[in-house]
Amino acid sequence: MPNDNTRIRKCLFPAAGYGTRFLPATKAIPKEMLPVLTKPLLQYGVEEAISAKMSTMAIVTGRGKRAIEDHFDISYELEHQIKGTSKEHYLTEIRKVITNCTFSYTRQIEMKGLGHAILCGETLIGDEPFAVILADDLCDNDGESVLSQMTKLYEKYKCSIVAVEEIPPKDSNKYGVIAGDVISHPELDSGSLVRVTDMVEKPSPENAPSNLAIIGRYILTPDIFDIIKDTKPGKGGEIQITDALLTQAKQGKVIAYKFKGKRFDCGSVDGFVEATNYFYKKNNSSKNQAKDGKD
Ligand code: G1P
Repeated sequence: MPNDNTRIRKCLFPAAGYGTRFLPATKAIPKEMLPVLTKPLLQYGVEEAISAKMSTMAIVTGRGKRAIEDHFDISYELEHQIKGTSKEHYLTEIRKVITNCTFSYTRQIEMKGLGHAILCGETLIGDEPFAVILADDLCDNDGESVLSQMTKLYEKYKCSIVAVEEIPPKDSNKYGVIAGDVISHPELDSGSLVRVTDMVEKPSPENAPSNLAIIGRYILTPDIFDIIKDTKPGKGGEIQITDALLTQAKQGKVIAYKFKGKRFDCGSVDGFVEATNYFYKKNNSSKNQAKDGKD
């Protein structure tokens, strides 16, 4: 099917990182496979992409990450064991994901930063706009998912979009931080959209251009690949997506969006525990509501 370059069909998941903050758990298990309740982080991300009508998942993996490919595939033995038993419903969600999407994989051979990881995905994405999800930023919404909110904005603005949230100034050194000019949008709260003029990767609080931090949701136009190829290593000696986006921003081609919803930093133990408690409560209250409905 020809793509008119307005619909985002593909979502890229950089998933090659070592997950050192979760050692020893991540020694043999990819950090993207750590479960919040019974579902791996990466599956939450894939389901968010599906909710935004994407069906091609492009995953940039690395050594020791084979469990990811096995997860998004049929396990015949398990299917055989569980079929017709009371446990079959445990597989419903993952079956839906597997049937509705195509997964493709490539490996990042050397860890040279997020920009480099995204560039590794070029062969899987090709010449079309695409989304990026960093699975350790786990998002949840009662309404539309964050990526869904962003794809709608893309249809109007047709440029790269980063999701941002307000952070305490002391945390600026954990994020890409942006600055820019507010754009008014009839359906959004004022200040929700910003035309980005500056962005800095992990600045100290004194050097942060604002308190708006990028979280792991991006929509990128495909010219980003050539820009990354020309981007020199930045913070930490790594090729940063923030630096590549700054080149687009200088051409007025990046928007930052203060999304609606909750986001958990599951790259940290505290955020992971917070997410686990949140989803546990949420799932229990919906189970109770369903029970009450039956009575
Ligand atoms: C990456 C990006 C950073 C962004 C963050 C969001 O950093 O480099 O700009 O704010 O993700 O989670 P990382 O968390 O991989 O160090």
